[in-house]
Order: sequence, then structure tokens, then C-alpha cells
Amino acid sequence: MQKKYSSLISELREKLKDCNTAHDIANIKSEYLGKNGYITNEFSKLRNAQESEKKKLGKELNILKSQAHDIILNTNIINNKTEERFVDVTLPGKNAFVGSRHPISITISEITKILESHGFTPVTGIEVENEYYNFEALNIPESHPSRDMHDTFYVLEDKLLRTHTSSVQIHTMLNQSAPLKIMTPGKVYRCDSDPTHSPMFHQIEGLYIDKGINFCHLKGTLIAFIDEYFGKKMEIRFRPSYFPFTEPSAEIDIRFKGKWLEVLGCGMVHHNVLENVNINPKQFSGFAFGLGIERLAMLKYGITDLRMFFENDISFLSQFERAE
Ligand code: DAH
Repeated sequence: MQKKYSSLISELREKLKDCNTAHDIANIKSEYLGKNGYITNEFSKLRNAQESEKKKLGKELNILKSQAHDIILNTNIINNKTEERFVDVTLPGKNAFVGSRHPISITISEITKILESHGFTPVTGIEVENEYYNFEALNIPESHPSRDMHDTFYVLEDKLLRTHTSSVQIHTMLNQSAPLKIMTPGKVYRCDSDPTHSPMFHQIEGLYIDKGINFCHLKGTLIAFIDEYFGKKMEIRFRPSYFPFTEPSAEIDIRFKGKWLEVLGCGMVHHNVLENVNINPKQFSGFAFGLGIERLAMLKYGITDLRMFFENDISFLSQFERAE
């Protein structure tokens, strides 16, 4: 390094020793590194240096700048005296803060792992949908209440944020031929906000289409899934229900703290849906189900307000550090 540069560092150290206040240190900083500071001016002079010298000088100046910067940054006023801070490596270490996975991500992993063991393959879909895939193809007519503007977020006249992951059923059946066995975790959107609803939440959809699939296959799969997710034999009931895209349709309730709680919707895929995706309902049949991820996570972890998942409160989130 050029002599004038190395003496500059010792000169800087001397000057810092004479500082009495943080303001004094700031002045020194601007004297060396400020807009018109010495080092900054040296950089400007580079422009006139000889081409062969430029690279070497530039490198030296960069080293000088970072040395000066570190020295100033590490200078503190301690007991009214300036001292260069030093690091005592013999002190006990502090553990670095390590984040943890979000409880919703943990729940998605748990659910998909179980379904994968039952032969379901993961598929993702798009979140901005056409009305056709979100409604019509799923046998949801124009007059259906879920198409109401109050429930659905429309981005354009015919474009909306998908209200359920069932739309992925349609894309997949159109793109792949039967038989197929898929699961589709993802975000869905509805205009709703209270302790058990949020405008964005997560669902997972399951779809199994093959020859000879009947309601027994649906029951067997979903009972096994629920027991595996909760880690014990659960008291379950199938309650008849209605979904436009399945016939017959059911909802599964589980007995939880003396009450029946709804956990998912399911049913045999409606023949209109199969016809919409060019699958012959005389040849193939299938079942589908859809469940809310937040709901399953709330039941497992005893959470009563769904909105807590999305408030980014570290004290809430860090409780799941060892949940996996
Ligand atoms: N799409 C339904 C919802 O969002 C959930 C659902 C119910 C999905 C029954 C299904 C099903 O595939 O068979 O409420």
C-alpha cells in the first residue's frame, strides 16, 4: 500500500482517540469518508490516473476505505473516553436466532405425507381463475350462492381468485387422462373475516378417478387419513350434505371435546363433472374431497382464532418450533 495511505490509518486512529462525543466521531467520519472527505476525493482522482495504475490504486483505495470504515464503526465512547471496541472471544456464546416453519406449512407437509402414502400425487394449480374452472365445469350454476360478488373476489369481469382448490380437479382431468389420483394443496380466497374465517386460507383437494371406485373407497381412505393425522382412532360420522360437483355428497364430522366438528367435504364425482372433462362416467367413477388446512391445524393445536396464523406474532409462531 502507498505510504501516504498507511500513515493515514494511524492518523485516523490518533484523531479518534481525541474524540469526546459521538458527534466528534461523526465529524471525523465525514472528514475521511463524507462526500468531500479525503478518501472520497482520492477516488475522484482515480479518473486522471494512468490506465496501468488505475486497477492497483483502486484496489488499495477500496481496502483503505473499508479499513477506515471499520475503525470508525468500532470506536465507542466508553467512560468519556474513546476506545476501539474489542471482541472478547472467551465470553460464553449467544445462540443465533433460528426461525421455524409456519404451522400452516407444517400442517400441509403432514397432510400431504399421509395422502402420498395412500397413493395421491401432488399437483399445483393457478390462483387467478376463469369462472369456468372455478364454477361452471364443477357443475356450479350461475345462480349458486357461492358465485355471489360478496363471497368471490373478482379481479376482472371473468377472472377471479379461486374460491376453492376444486378448480384444479378440472385442469388436471383435462390435462391427464383417467385413471388419476391427485392431491392439490394451495391458497384460496373468499370475502370473509372472523375468528374462523380469513380472506385467504388454505385447502387441500383430493381426487381419485378409476374404474369401479365407489363410496367404500372414499370412506376407507378418509377414515384412515383422519386417524393418521390425529395420531389416534377418532370418533367420526359421515353426514349427508350437498355439493354441486359430487353426488352423493357428505361431510365428515369428528367428535372433539364432546362436540361434533365438521372437518371436510367429500363425495362421488358428479357425472356432469366427468362429462365436462371428457371422461366417460359409464367407464370411470371417482371420489373427491376438500378440506381446510387451517381448520385441521386449529383442531390439532387447540387454536381458537384462525387469524392468529397470519398476524406474524413471533411469540405465537415460535411455539411450533418443535412441532415437527
Ligand atoms: N370445494 C368445497 C369447498 O370449498 C370443498 C369440497 C367439498 C371439495 C366436497 C370436494 C368435495 O372435492 O367433494 O367448500
